[in-house]
Amino acid sequence: MSHTESSVKKSVRRIVNSCIVSPNECSSSNKKMSQYISNVPVAPEDPILGINVAYKADPSTDKLNLGVGAYRTEEGLPLVLNVVRKVEQLVANDVSLNKEYLPIEGLPDFTAHTAKLIFGADSPALAEKRVATVQALSGTGALRIGAEFLARFAPDGAATPVYISDPTWGNHTNIFKDAHMPDVRKYRYYKEQTRGLDFEGFIGDLKAAPNGSVFILHTCAHNPTGVDPTLEQWEAILDVIQAKAHLPFFDTAYQGFATGDLDRDAAPARMAIARGMELFASQSYAKNLGLYAERIGALNIVCRDAATADAVKSQLKTIIRPMYSNPPLHGARLVSKILSDKSLYNEWLVELKEMSDRIKRMRHELYDAIKKNGTPGTWEHIIDQIGMFSYTGLTKAQCEVMIKKHHVYMMTNGRISMAGLSSKNIPKMAAAIHDVVVNVQ
Ligand code: LMR
Repeated sequence: MSHTESSVKKSVRRIVNSCIVSPNECSSSNKKMSQYISNVPVAPEDPILGINVAYKADPSTDKLNLGVGAYRTEEGLPLVLNVVRKVEQLVANDVSLNKEYLPIEGLPDFTAHTAKLIFGADSPALAEKRVATVQALSGTGALRIGAEFLARFAPDGAATPVYISDPTWGNHTNIFKDAHMPDVRKYRYYKEQTRGLDFEGFIGDLKAAPNGSVFILHTCAHNPTGVDPTLEQWEAILDVIQAKAHLPFFDTAYQGFATGDLDRDAAPARMAIARGMELFASQSYAKNLGLYAERIGALNIVCRDAATADAVKSQLKTIIRPMYSNPPLHGARLVSKILSDKSLYNEWLVELKEMSDRIKRMRHELYDAIKKNGTPGTWEHIIDQIGMFSYTGLTKAQCEVMIKKHHVYMMTNGRISMAGLSSKNIPKMAAAIHDVVVNVQ
């Protein structure tokens, strides 16, 4: 052994020994640790994703999962779109591609195309370069980045009220509260008696809110009710938002899923741009491209001018960097290839339409089966509602019996994912609804 080797070994041993703590020190540091860890209470399951956990744990062979909003085929299976499989093959075979870090704001091709998808290729805001777009971890990540930004830069910062529809997607409140926007309030949206939009209530709450409040709006396919304003009603909603200088935050998780038409589903955000309004818009490719687990989406902030958009983007980067550094590549690559290639894009449109049409068919089949059974009540809302969900109108007690007795896993607010239904399981679903409507208050 050379002289240098032996001195290196000695210094390594010295460092290792200095790191070893005595048994006493060790037990006292364990005690300190256990003070942190042993008192942690068990958190409740998430009300939506927890349904999957309960469904999986149920040994019944006759169970049905209508909880989480994820598309299923007629055979009840998850769907990977053909166009996605095709692009994945192209990517796998392209040895020129690498897996270097993305820029903090995401894949440039993706951010450019995703903004065009929501605002339209001919959007004046895009032509004037006044949109700051960053890639995000799907819709949730986009909302969270937006919320963090508002907590820092809204005129009243964290004190700004954030209005969410009543009811809304279960995660909205948590996202804003965790981003230190604690003043989350509700605006009227759904009318139980008509099972439709509470338009007067909505307008009234927009008017009553302090000027400059943030309003979270579901661009299309409202979650959980499946009730969307008409375009005429959107104009009236935007009139008040503009007059009160509120900030519209368009949560766009279902573009293409409501009507089957990507442009029509993005109309409310485009109408706001046509009025010259500033706005936030989050996007998700979980549902419309079936890329649930790829966590691919975007946040767009439409600003007054290009210089503001540059400043906004620079701040968004400072929010993202300490949170997760930079976003994942795979989903962004798939989406940007599909959005930038005419023939892949057209293939996507066909598959998107198929998904949206199958859901519409399920609405009609469920409605027909309920009517055939003579189930008391009115059920037109099942066919009138739009998008992935139906807000059945079943009470909490009825939903609990649906789960416990009939093994139909659904949200206890009455929401079902229409995508989980098929011609095969609709008779079971209709029979279960009949039983709870007749026998449970
Ligand atoms: C849902 O509402 O079921 C989906 O948006 C999934 C989720 O993350 O909650």
